[in-house]
Amino acid sequence: MTGVEKAQALRDRKGGARIAALTAYDYPTARLLDESGIDLMLVGDSLGMVALGFPDTTHVTLEHMRHHVAAVARAEPTALVLADLPIHTYPDPDTAVANARLLVEAGAEAVKLEGGIRQADKVRAITEAGIPVCGHLGMLPQRVLEEGGYHKKGRTPEQLDALREGAWALIEAGVFAIVLESVVQEAAGELTATLPVPTIGIGCGETTCDGEVAVVTDLIGSFPWFVPPFARPEADVAHSIRTAAAAYVQRVRQP
Ligand code: KIV
Repeated sequence: MTGVEKAQALRDRKGGARIAALTAYDYPTARLLDESGIDLMLVGDSLGMVALGFPDTTHVTLEHMRHHVAAVARAEPTALVLADLPIHTYPDPDTAVANARLLVEAGAEAVKLEGGIRQADKVRAITEAGIPVCGHLGMLPQRVLEEGGYHKKGRTPEQLDALREGAWALIEAGVFAIVLESVVQEAAGELTATLPVPTIGIGCGETTCDGEVAVVTDLIGSFPWFVPPFARPEADVAHSIRTAAAAYVQRVRQP
């Protein structure tokens, strides 16, 4: 299937089987995750924190993204490979299209960008260029410095109105799905019930949205220094690495 067909198939899942999405940043993880049958593999700019050691996603560049997208794409995933357009790479429609093309050249099949009404013209331009786009509303990590931290969204009627308006602007511009991040459960539920494209939740309650996306290091427990409160680890890879490394040191020093 082409990327456009995969994105359309996910769009058509609205009201059907829930979408399972995970982030991936490298070749072996992408290969292993794809074996699970996940629907969507997000090369998220979260890689800035969990793979590159930056304090937040505002340090991630297009070159970082291209490097990691290419590694994930070499695994030839069946899942749709979705790549984040990092901060400052979509200031206007022409730049957004040029940079989305660079991500596609590196191996992405679709792109994601953050924000609502103010991004609609960029979403329209990218989709018209033949590249599927996923929206991202709620808590926007690329705005963490302006907002002074990570705050839950959709708490007030005004915030819910802004989310609704943003979502409809993105849908009219052509997104195939919308990630909702850290939106209070009631608001995320209302958006999911009323919007015609799938919502993919993170930090919105486990079964509120049409699908879920998790940061892979939260799922496998390989980034123990920060674990969001909503994470549900299924493994403790940090423990396995520490144990294996300690056993190796012992083996080498006392053969
Ligand atoms: O960068 C990322 O991993 C994301 C998810 C949190 C949705 O955008």
